[in-house]
Amino acid sequence: MAETIILSGKTVSQNVYNSLQTRIDLLKSSGCTPGLAAVLVGDDPASNVYVNSKTRRFNTLGLFSETICLPEICSENELVSIIHKLNNDDRFHGILVQMPLPNHLNESVIIESVDPLKDVDGFHPENLGLLTAGRPQFVPCTPKGIMRILKYYEIDPSGKHVVVLGRSNIVGRPLSILMSLKQSYSNATTTICHSGTIDIPYYTQQADILIAAIGVPEFVTSDHIKDGAVIIDVGINRVEDDSENGYTLVGDVHFDSVNGKATAISPVPGGVGPMTIAMLVENTVEAAERFVTGE
Ligand code: GUN
Repeated sequence: MAETIILSGKTVSQNVYNSLQTRIDLLKSSGCTPGLAAVLVGDDPASNVYVNSKTRRFNTLGLFSETICLPEICSENELVSIIHKLNNDDRFHGILVQMPLPNHLNESVIIESVDPLKDVDGFHPENLGLLTAGRPQFVPCTPKGIMRILKYYEIDPSGKHVVVLGRSNIVGRPLSILMSLKQSYSNATTTICHSGTIDIPYYTQQADILIAAIGVPEFVTSDHIKDGAVIIDVGINRVEDDSENGYTLVGDVHFDSVNGKATAISPVPGGVGPMTIAMLVENTVEAAERFVTGE
């Protein structure tokens, strides 16, 4: 069997940044520097790392970003009033509230307080509704990044059976909608498997393209897939060990087990992760363009 192709999010994201540069330059020459406000509540180490990588990328590209760090005990009212201020602050074209939030905060209330025109995460019900209607405004970054990886490697989901493992509002559900849209590089037959699915391997073994987004370390093994499947691994799981960091990052797919059986696989790290950040930048540039043109 041919060697499994590695779907490099590093390569594809660099391609995205290169093609965004002209749009960024144009915005800046009209006096608008695309800006992102990242809101981080509490001190979850993984969320800290993600927000830092996002804002670092904005800085590298000469874009504007500010991180608003709030204590774990922050109240819902306080957070909503901060978001309302950001909605009215023209320096920020995009607002991101890092998930998950502490348990005492209602995620829906917080997400719905972000202006849909600044909702670069695409989590607001208005944006999810527009996506479902096939008229997307902001598409959630991880699903959008997965579609972009497939397109870059000319893996066309049209007519294929795509099985999505996981129904989160951040990845699984919006991805299943994107995959089934009647448009180029979508148009797939989609199945979503989740914690209520009886006999997950029955479905995953039928997948031409399998997306693993359930947050269970190395859940998908060679027994789950058919020969020649394309595997996208969305998981970033910290597994504690005696390494220097005290943990190792692993995906939802057991890489060594499927390597050689799959046609292509996205690695962890270096697969979907860099694409999420690239799509956040792209969505923020889009938001800034809408702000400037008033469309
Ligand atoms: N938590 C995990 N993924 C994401 C994401 O794409 N955006 C936000 N805001 N939080 C997340």
